[in-house]
Amino acid sequence: MINENAFIVFEGIDGSGKSTQIKMLAAALSEQGMSVEVTAEPSNGDIGKLLRSYLKKEKVTDNRAIAPLFAADRIDHITAKGGILDLLNRKNTVLCDRYYLSSYAYQAIDCDMDWVIELNREAQRLAKPDLHIFLDLPCEISMERVKNRGETELFEQLDRQKKIRENFFILFEKLKDEENIFIVDATKSPEEIAQEIRNKVLCTE
Ligand code: ADP
Ligand code: TYD
Repeated sequence: MINENAFIVFEGIDGSGKSTQIKMLAAALSEQGMSVEVTAEPSNGDIGKLLRSYLKKEKVTDNRAIAPLFAADRIDHITAKGGILDLLNRKNTVLCDRYYLSSYAYQAIDCDMDWVIELNREAQRLAKPDLHIFLDLPCEISMERVKNRGETELFEQLDRQKKIRENFFILFEKLKDEENIFIVDATKSPEEIAQEIRNKVLCTE
């Protein structure tokens, strides 16, 4: 069984099934009597809202300016009242939709990856996840799923998604001694994926 205040992050390319799996894990942990809180990045704070306007292409800036904004939003999300540290300190298990691995993979399309990692050092020091769960899906499938959502966001193009997925795999090798990353085949059914995640999180295998 995991700690009562574990910090678990879900990662993957756009449309890989993160929201679906977070809901399923939250329900499973709640059923075990655990206190679970779900959160996401970009956050709901001021910097997160600004980021959403860039993602929706309502505002435009250079992608190199976006990298420090994501890092700033993360520190805000960690330290704000009701933020990640507050939730963990109140003995909640926190499930977060995206965290710094997203920055490393997405912002490294246009920025040096090591620079992005450095920008996020303080976030890593303040709140390092106990587990990152990466939902792995071929980009062609995820793009089909995303298309059904309507408006395409800043990074939702096949060539970008392919580069981002490659970046995630570069990171898994680069961070293998530093971060606890569990890769799941996200082509399976939602229930099969949820079962694998439950087995990992509740250590039943
Ligand atoms: P994300 O949060 O990563 O963007 P979602 O959970 O919103 O992904 O899923 C994107 C779309 O794919 C949704 O329409 C969802 O119903 C569907 N979906 C999620 N998981 C699966 C799965 N395992 N198989 C098929 N479709 C899925
Ligand atoms: P999200 O709403 O999770 O998108 P989706 O449901 O499609 O997976 O995330 C919004 C977008 O922001 C997504 O394209 C990934 C991007 N992003 C970054 O580029 N860097 C980051 O650090 C984070 C947290 C998200």
